[in-house]
Amino acid sequence: MIKNICCIGAGYVGGPTMTVMAYKCPEIKITVVDLNKKRIEAWNSSNPKNIPVFEPGLADIVMKTRGKNLFFSTDVETAIDQAEMIFMSVNTPTKEYGKGKGMAADLKYIELCARQIAAISKSDKIVVEKSTLPVRTAEAIRSILDNTGNGVKFQILSNPEFLAEGTAINDLLNPDRVLIGGLQTPEGKAAIEELTAIYAHWIPRERILHTNVWSSELSKLTANAFLAQRISSINSLSALCEKTEADVTEISKAIGSDSRIGSKFLTASVGFGGSCFQKDVLNLVYICKSFGLEEVAEYWDQVIKMNDYQKQRFADNIITTLYNTVSGKKIAFLGWAFKKDTNDTRETPAMYVADILTKDLANISVYDPKVSETQVFTDMAHVNGRTDEENKKQISVYNDPYEACKNAHAIAILTEWDMFKTLDWKKIHDNMLKPAFMFDGRNILDKKQMENLGFKFKSIGK
Ligand code: UDX
Ligand code: ADP
Repeated sequence: MIKNICCIGAGYVGGPTMTVMAYKCPEIKITVVDLNKKRIEAWNSSNPKNIPVFEPGLADIVMKTRGKNLFFSTDVETAIDQAEMIFMSVNTPTKEYGKGKGMAADLKYIELCARQIAAISKSDKIVVEKSTLPVRTAEAIRSILDNTGNGVKFQILSNPEFLAEGTAINDLLNPDRVLIGGLQTPEGKAAIEELTAIYAHWIPRERILHTNVWSSELSKLTANAFLAQRISSINSLSALCEKTEADVTEISKAIGSDSRIGSKFLTASVGFGGSCFQKDVLNLVYICKSFGLEEVAEYWDQVIKMNDYQKQRFADNIITTLYNTVSGKKIAFLGWAFKKDTNDTRETPAMYVADILTKDLANISVYDPKVSETQVFTDMAHVNGRTDEENKKQISVYNDPYEACKNAHAIAILTEWDMFKTLDWKKIHDNMLKPAFMFDGRNILDKKQMENLGFKFKSIGK
């Protein structure tokens, strides 16, 4: 029975996953380590508001378990040395240089992590891939561990995380399934059983699926690709709806009521964001290409193209509607995060729409209940390469939605935060320039109600 776990990487995956595991397994000591000192300090903060990952219910459980059997530390070496099982939850962003640039997963953090484990380990360990990795990464990890280690034995498991941000705690407490991939040797099977025993503390065994390592790695990538494909499919129809007076919400309902299709992941939007979908689909495209499967690669690439088109279409629609010019006009962005109930902004559609509009010389005022001003400017620098000082000439961030909308020509809703449904829209409309435009990129507001208040209202697919 495992008694000591180390998790490398205290991000959106490692932090919540280990918190729930520690909460459900009080007899196991779990240490989450990260090179980023600030991040670890934030996880150790006595104020729940400072926990670096915002996720409903997370701070509560951190407060209950931290200091008992859950620890956050920057001492990577000690944690690796003492652990019997090590989770690798480091980031695997899309490569931004060299071979596979813009498509392949950048495995430099994973490799560094594997080399560190090999150098430090003095006893046998089970190493678990948690990050989403391209199929056959375990082979690379195995090769590094076996060739650079101190002669100790490693078992490598793949245990991809299926949590969605914003619902992470519930997803972790009640997962549809847990996937564990390992070698089909006696040692491999024993390692699979060790990890299964941990999850069995709170998850029925029939929901813990065992596969070979490669199926497990590829399942994660393709589950995300299928979900992304559904969103791109409905978004492609949203464009057709706008031309034909069909209503995309009604279409979603009609399609989703077919039990063979199902209702989830059919909400038309300004486009999907987040750390997984784009990265994983691009990665799938890259893998297919590298096996010479051009048609398969092209098929999946279209999912990404559709998503880019949707963001562009949303921005173009704003420009066209505002009499073909947004130069010098104030456009308020309500929401910046890639979805509600998270402070994560990776690949958020908001930054791409902001980029298009600022290139057309618009001024953008941003309000998001959980995203900081610093983050907005970091995102903008990532997408347009400009310094904060340059970006501040056109973009300002507010702590209050009413201030953000004051004297604006238009409002664009980029994130479906619940609080936006109950704002005092009359007051907001009164303080805007007329005619006051509203572009609902998430279809959360009622068209009739907004039109009665005087808004010129447009939403996706209607
Ligand atoms: C996703 C997967 O759901 C999860 O299983 C995986 O482990 C990680 O990637 P996440 O990125 O956190 O999770 O959020 P998700 O809820 O899947 O949403 C992704 C994006 O799609 C968001 O921008 C969301 O707003 C958008 N979306 C989702 C839609 O536009 N329409 C939908 O119907 C659903
Ligand atoms: P995810 O959404 O996959 O959790 P994040 O970027 O939120 O991604 O988290 C990954 C974390 O892993 C970051 O905080 C980063 O500092 C950390 N990390 C990356 N490489 C290492 C390493 N070799 N040792 C310790 N921490 C690492």
